[in-house]
Amino acid sequence: MSETVVEVKNLVKRYKQLIALDNFSLKIEKGEVFGLLGPNGSGKSTTINCILSLLDYDNGEIKVFGEKMKSSRYDLKKRIGIVMQDVAVFDELTVEENVDYFCGLYIADKNLRKQYVDEAIEFVGIEEFRKFRPKKLSGGLLRRLNIACGIAHKPELIILDEPTVAVDPQSRNKILEGITELNKKGATIIYTSHYMEEVEQICTHILIMDKGKNITDGTADELKRSIKNTENIIVNIKKLDQKHVDAIGKLNHVYDITYMADRLEIKCSGGRHNISHVIDYFAENDLDYDRIYSELPTLNDVFLEITGKNLRDKE
Ligand SMILES: Nc1ncnc2c1ncn2[C@@H]1O[C@H](COP(=O)(O)OP(=O)(O)OP(=O)(O)O)[C@@H](O)[C@H]1O
Ligand SMILES: [Mg+2]
Repeated sequence: MSETVVEVKNLVKRYKQLIALDNFSLKIEKGEVFGLLGPNGSGKSTTINCILSLLDYDNGEIKVFGEKMKSSRYDLKKRIGIVMQDVAVFDELTVEENVDYFCGLYIADKNLRKQYVDEAIEFVGIEEFRKFRPKKLSGGLLRRLNIACGIAHKPELIILDEPTVAVDPQSRNKILEGITELNKKGATIIYTSHYMEEVEQICTHILIMDKGKNITDGTADELKRSIKNTENIIVNIKKLDQKHVDAIGKLNHVYDITYMADRLEIKCSGGRHNISHVIDYFAENDLDYDRIYSELPTLNDVFLEITGKNLRDKE
């Protein structure tokens, strides 16, 4: 039987005139790696801060572990590990002392705490830096320390708000692997990000949000199957007359076509085997191209189809 760990119903949060959360709802089951995916400013951190009762809200209901969450519910907070978007550690404490401090908020027993602190430091792979102060750490290592501080007390629910932003690839992989590992050991995870690749890599359930609203949610496959787009065909071609663009746009299953900067992008519905028709068209019309390939839809295509814009500006 499934067990709901977090339930948010019709949450409304305003910052003066701005509606940051607009009747936002979600439900997270035990054992999930729940991805909250949305562009900058869509309301991910606001959602997290409301769930944790760090922020007051205007309307709605929040339950954690089946109980109404309030700032005074220390018993519930103890079961949650939080890794904030902005790194929050003490500069004057060493790596080890920092982890011990945060773990000490929940674990009073000294011996047990020592064991937990060692395990957390080892888990994120910063053993060599135990005696370092945070200022001496690279951005990636600092993130890992931030994570160690959040998870040392072995919480059942772990919330990570964009833990891989501005992190080197090695630390990023270590962090993503670590999250999967914590989940395998039984923790339920909430993971916010605006990187669709990461969310797809580790999340069992994905909620896409925009402007404070839940625009869709499901597994990555469910989300992709829910849209019209089934295949994107890209042709790198230096010169192509508009009449050809128009003609390709009329091929079976093609519903959108753009030609910009030597790149023809053809959006198709109706399966994954439209590329042969496009190749045939080029052959029949004796047109030369550099490269032609086909891609399956991504979560960006899901976002694009629902909101009319890209998940993030092209980098
Ligand atoms: N303290 C605040 N006062 C006023 N407006 C705020 C405040 N915090 C957030 N906002 C606004 O609320 C909206 C949602 O912000 P939020 O930080 O929750 O988004 P986010 O999805 O976490 O974005 P990011 O990816 O940049 O972290 C944004 O428009 C933001 O500018
Ligand atoms: Mg945020």
